[in-house]
Amino acid sequence: MRKKVHLDVDTGNDDAILLAMMLAAEDVDVVGVSTVCGNSTLTNTTQNTLSILELFDRTDVPVAKGAERPFVREHHDAEWVHGENGIRGDLPDPSTSPVDQTAMEFICKQVETYGHRLTIAAVGPLTNIALAIANRPTLPDDIDELYLMGGAAHTHGNITPVAEFNFWGDPEAASRVMQDGFPRMVGLDVTNQATVLPEFIDKLEDASPPLDTVADWFDYPDELMNTEYGTNVPAIHDGVVGADIIGNILDYESYYMEVDTTEGPSRGAVICDVLETMDTEVNVVSEDRNRFSPTGDVAESIDIDHFREIMSQTILKYS
Ligand code: RIB
Ligand code: CA
Repeated sequence: MRKKVHLDVDTGNDDAILLAMMLAAEDVDVVGVSTVCGNSTLTNTTQNTLSILELFDRTDVPVAKGAERPFVREHHDAEWVHGENGIRGDLPDPSTSPVDQTAMEFICKQVETYGHRLTIAAVGPLTNIALAIANRPTLPDDIDELYLMGGAAHTHGNITPVAEFNFWGDPEAASRVMQDGFPRMVGLDVTNQATVLPEFIDKLEDASPPLDTVADWFDYPDELMNTEYGTNVPAIHDGVVGADIIGNILDYESYYMEVDTTEGPSRGAVICDVLETMDTEVNVVSEDRNRFSPTGDVAESIDIDHFREIMSQTILKYS
């Protein structure tokens, strides 16, 4: 049975790669996409998403526009990472428009339609997902899996020393989803390792359309590249979620977690209670403590060879 997958994206380059992977995957049916501000403005992330569906001749996939801004904070884009308007490469003008539902309405409708056959994968700030859960609190129990690319449980951040971009962008939304969504948190702990090999990128660059455009989505500023292969290779954060949906490439551990929503140096940080120290009474040290139950699963390790194999198998389908 093909997995029914809804993607919530802030289409930038790695979101685009995730879209390409999921649209090509044999055992996946992309039943819809919703967009959120993040890597760029909502207008741009929506336009980029529609253009990518046009590029792959998949305008059958419905797209719903979501949050134009975070719940509380100002929107800060990442165009310095992803390029002008939030994406690189020549994209076709879309011939389609978003559906006339908001992302929240559309996501809740998807849950109603597909129920436990549905996987939701959110790879941008979590504003749409938090709204959907607020609107339908049973959502996490009504679907098969809620994945998110975001956070950093045991490693440093990428937008601040302690916070990952998606969580930092809307920490209130991340806090809600991490407390109520029981998500699979695919964070920087594993996605920082998710590089592709230089020869894979070379193959794309030499290929005919649309792969020559896909090659541009692997182009990142030098200071963000990993250099373990003696050359610049980018980590494809959002692609890790797709590879796990397709091929179970990650191992997880369950923890009680909170997200810091204060305004200051720890904004957006994930507080991951590895030692189970948190309970209903602060600083009680006794055996009969009322420890908090886990609130989510954290991706702890990645099968990098399997990641690269799935990336190659799906992306090269467009040859
Ligand atoms: O921190 C990486 C995440 O932030 C990725 O999802 C990237 O697309 C940006 O949204
Ligand atoms: Ca993203």
